[in-house]
Amino acid sequence: MTTYDFSGRTAVVTGGSRGIGYATASLLAASGATVFLTSRTREDAEAAAAQITADLADRGVTVAVTGLAGHVGQADAATAVCTTAVATTGRLDVLVNNAGTNPAYGPVTDQDPALIAKVFEINTTAPVVWARAALEAGLGAAPDGAAGAIVNIASIGALTMEDGIGIYNGSKAALLHLTRQMARELGPRIRVNSVSPGVVRTRFAEALWKEHEAAVAATTPMGRIGEPADIADAVCFLAAPTSGWITGTNLVIDGGQLVGTVGHQ
Ligand SMILES: NC(=O)c1ccc[n+]([C@@H]2O[C@H](COP(=O)([O-])OP(=O)(O)OC[C@H]3O[C@@H](n4cnc5c(N)ncnc54)[C@H](OP(=O)(O)O)[C@@H]3O)[C@@H](O)[C@H]2O)c1
Repeated sequence: MTTYDFSGRTAVVTGGSRGIGYATASLLAASGATVFLTSRTREDAEAAAAQITADLADRGVTVAVTGLAGHVGQADAATAVCTTAVATTGRLDVLVNNAGTNPAYGPVTDQDPALIAKVFEINTTAPVVWARAALEAGLGAAPDGAAGAIVNIASIGALTMEDGIGIYNGSKAALLHLTRQMARELGPRIRVNSVSPGVVRTRFAEALWKEHEAAVAATTPMGRIGEPADIADAVCFLAAPTSGWITGTNLVIDGGQLVGTVGHQ
């Protein structure tokens, strides 16, 4: 048993083969959802689905998790994944736009326009394109009248200024804006919220913690960096039916990193 009840519900999680997406897909499945997770490669997606299924079986929980190939920058992949989810289960209740990228480092005015476009394509445009595909497939249109939920993974970088990753942070700030815009446009059938993680122990963020985890932990009020499960919990909170009157909100999950520097010895 988990805190959340997604029994009879169907969820799509982009970028679910590792990190935050994997933890989210796992918690959704453990909470009763039928889950479709994606990765750019079919093998990685299928391996992740099999791993979640095996891990939960060890805990005596039978789950339905499917791994599908799907580059979030490709609209036809969005359509294929969302229609597969509905064709298989008859409904789509939750879309987690998790996959993200950050290939542009340095001052924003030094960045190649093509690279800037790629960052915004994956981090900002893709969540809207996947929302559209999910809507067209039937997100929030289940026969029982259950509202749909979209959760976009942004970043605390969207809320502050940092050297070196300004393009990434700008793309996530735009995602926060579009999250609120979609919340206006898609209610009451669909709720749209975002989660903004701080530094979390994943491959994507290794440059931010791997060589200096103790230093990051020491300046984090909660005394440690984040774990993918910390973010998964917040995503499930926002996606769950019990959050039925929450939309257009951004939930910061950062152990207090935005609050400022503190000393932990
Ligand atoms: N970790 C942090 O500290 C942190 C902080 C703030 C925000 N975030 C955000 O959290 C989200 C997840 O990041 P993470 O840290 O969990 O990263 P991660 O561990 O590297 O996992 C990224 C996942 O996304 C998939 N992916 C990457 N590019 C993709 C694409 N174009 N299309 C489809 N799938 C793609 C990866 O699979 P494949 O490589 O197999 O495709 C993988 O499953 C991102 O949006 C990131 O911006 C992370």
